[in-house]
Amino acid sequence: MLQSMCRNVFSRVSRTMSYATRTSQEEVVKPKTAIVMLNMGGPTNIDQVGDYLFRIMTDRDMIQLPVQSKLGPWIASRRTEDVQKKYMEIGGGSPILKWTNSQGSLLAEALDKLHPETAPHKHYVCFRYVPPFTNDAFTAIEKDGVERAVIFSQYPQYSCATTGSSLNAIADFYKNRSIPKNIKFSLIERWATHPLLAKVFAERIKEKLDVFDPEVRDDVVILFTAHSLPLKAVSRGDTYPHEVAATVANTMLQLNVKNPYRLVWQSKVGPLPWLQPYTDDAIKAYAKQGRKNLLLVPIAFVNEHIETLHELDIEYCHDIAKEAGITRIERAATPNAHPTFISALADIVVQHLANQEKVSKQFLTRCPHCVSERCHKSKEFFKELCAGDVAIDTNNIKSQESQLNVK
Ligand code: FES
Repeated sequence: MLQSMCRNVFSRVSRTMSYATRTSQEEVVKPKTAIVMLNMGGPTNIDQVGDYLFRIMTDRDMIQLPVQSKLGPWIASRRTEDVQKKYMEIGGGSPILKWTNSQGSLLAEALDKLHPETAPHKHYVCFRYVPPFTNDAFTAIEKDGVERAVIFSQYPQYSCATTGSSLNAIADFYKNRSIPKNIKFSLIERWATHPLLAKVFAERIKEKLDVFDPEVRDDVVILFTAHSLPLKAVSRGDTYPHEVAATVANTMLQLNVKNPYRLVWQSKVGPLPWLQPYTDDAIKAYAKQGRKNLLLVPIAFVNEHIETLHELDIEYCHDIAKEAGITRIERAATPNAHPTFISALADIVVQHLANQEKVSKQFLTRCPHCVSERCHKSKEFFKELCAGDVAIDTNNIKSQESQLNVK
């Protein structure tokens, strides 16, 4: 039933080239509530890889390099060919847009039923490094004339480098235009401890534990893996590491098995120290200890993309595991369009819509060692945006920003 539901959504999404919502009679329905789904995005074809890398390498919220305006583009162009090859090996592009559209359509359908007072709901994809960008999503929202817009990060665990970067892009977008007076904005920036998120991860783990021989199943080491973070950001007070750990703890409670487990970190770039142990090193080290049955669980990704399909599946589960002499290694699927995950998304939004808080105090509080005026201005912007106070002097913010050194 789920498969046929997903198939219907996929075909509907691919047929719908605009953001229009349609009934079964193909009558265009004006959405009342926008659900803006923030994520980094990934190239849907190899022609987008160069621009995608360029945007990442020049985003100082995501990565800080010396002489970034020169070094960033240089690294991007140097890595383009290699990264294109990786995308070719996973079918020519990232499925993140396909999955986000699928999740968004199912979420909007669920919300129409669960919260009819704010229906019709419609999702808008808002990516950071590939289209559709912030500009595309927010222009469409304004054009559609929604009454309410829920800005919903699709990173369950908050980091200033990921969700923070997407939110700064929204603040940037409104520097050069007036804020629509007729839209009530609010923000969901983190949901690491939602019980249904733990439940879907537990279900994904169970699917893979079941494929191990019953003789060894209870001794399989569960390796939760998440994108690493520079120690500099951790020392600044970024909440990401402990939010990831909270998701891991909740998932293990939900799973209720006796297997050993660890949290490890992947995808480090550059020479500076990042959060450890690294996932590939952990696989090799466990092989040396004789722990040769492993299950990798991507705990900070809600849909498949290059870091699951290539880094985990090809580089770690195939190449490194073979070299290290691992007996069996499996990788749990990401939530994708699992019905429990759609229920999680819907419950988070329903609770948020029922809640009077439009923007959390947790988001409005900066990292203890943050010295970025960009963060400061961005949080001030969201405080006013979500309070519905549209008298924001965006020109003033812009002129102040131009005099500031970002990070
Ligand atoms: Fe975290 Fe600025 S770096 S709020």
